[in-house]
Amino acid sequence: MTEIGTLRNAGKDTLRDVLTRLEKEGAGLGHFNVSDQVLLKAVIAAAAETTFPVLIGASEGERDFFGARQLATLVKTEREESDLPLFLNADHTHSLAKALEAANAGFDAVTIDFSALPFEENVAHTKEAVQAIKAVNPAILAEGEIGDIGTGSEIKETAQGGRRLSTPEEARQFVEATGIDNLAPAVGNMHGMLKSMVQGKAKKHLDLERIVQIKQAAGVFLTLHGGSGTDDEHFRKAIAAGINIIHINTELRVAWRESLDKSLARDSNEVVPYKILRPVVDSVKQVVASRLRLFHGQAVSPEAVGTVA
Ligand code: G3H
Ligand code: ZN
Repeated sequence: MTEIGTLRNAGKDTLRDVLTRLEKEGAGLGHFNVSDQVLLKAVIAAAAETTFPVLIGASEGERDFFGARQLATLVKTEREESDLPLFLNADHTHSLAKALEAANAGFDAVTIDFSALPFEENVAHTKEAVQAIKAVNPAILAEGEIGDIGTGSEIKETAQGGRRLSTPEEARQFVEATGIDNLAPAVGNMHGMLKSMVQGKAKKHLDLERIVQIKQAAGVFLTLHGGSGTDDEHFRKAIAAGINIIHINTELRVAWRESLDKSLARDSNEVVPYKILRPVVDSVKQVVASRLRLFHGQAVSPEAVGTVA
């Protein structure tokens, strides 16, 4: 057991406790990616402002830039000093070595991502990683991914074609064969945003009926990746349909970039980093806080899931 896991378990809710409680309340846990301390500060500030729990995520690329152990140490320090319900996920982890690195650094969850491989290979690699991280700390939540939702939390010219949606049957088989705690299926979601989405002219829509069926078949927590640019009503109904965790990254990156551009343009003689970066933290915080308020807003009744426009 890692030091972080031991400390957290002494008197605080685990990530599983939080997910179980939110599911009962009809709320979703917001997962927000960070690749630098500005984004991390913004996510923590939003958690403090709203008092909602957050799952802080860092993909392999984000962890390489930030430092997996460095990020884990910062989150641990914040968690202890602020008492906020902050959790840490090793997002999109494509190798056993990287999964173990995160587990040993004290991450609360690992998104094991072999979804680009054929189904049987995905099963075999995911199962191996689940067993390995649980041997480090059985409390770590192991997520597995099926289907294709494209890659990259970036602004895209066109939607990536040929995306394959997950079926309830493969969800059931995958959960049974791998022992994962939560499943990330392809249900109409996609990573990144089209330019029209950044401009607010288009929204992502989800296959809500498929989420209901996958939830029934899988019987575990469900994660929605590629949340940026999704229609608000689809988000709320996706939670009612069985989604427990929602990943948002590109929206934060867009706010980070736009506010940084603005802050730099304000005064070309300004060279004090914290004066330039403070407004950036604030802009990203607003995006995170607004998503958190939506995920914890008025719950939708399960009967209303099919009534989306
Ligand atoms: O794992 C990260 C996410 O799935 C984020 O996707 O950039 O479309 O919000 P997004
Ligand atoms: Zn993702």
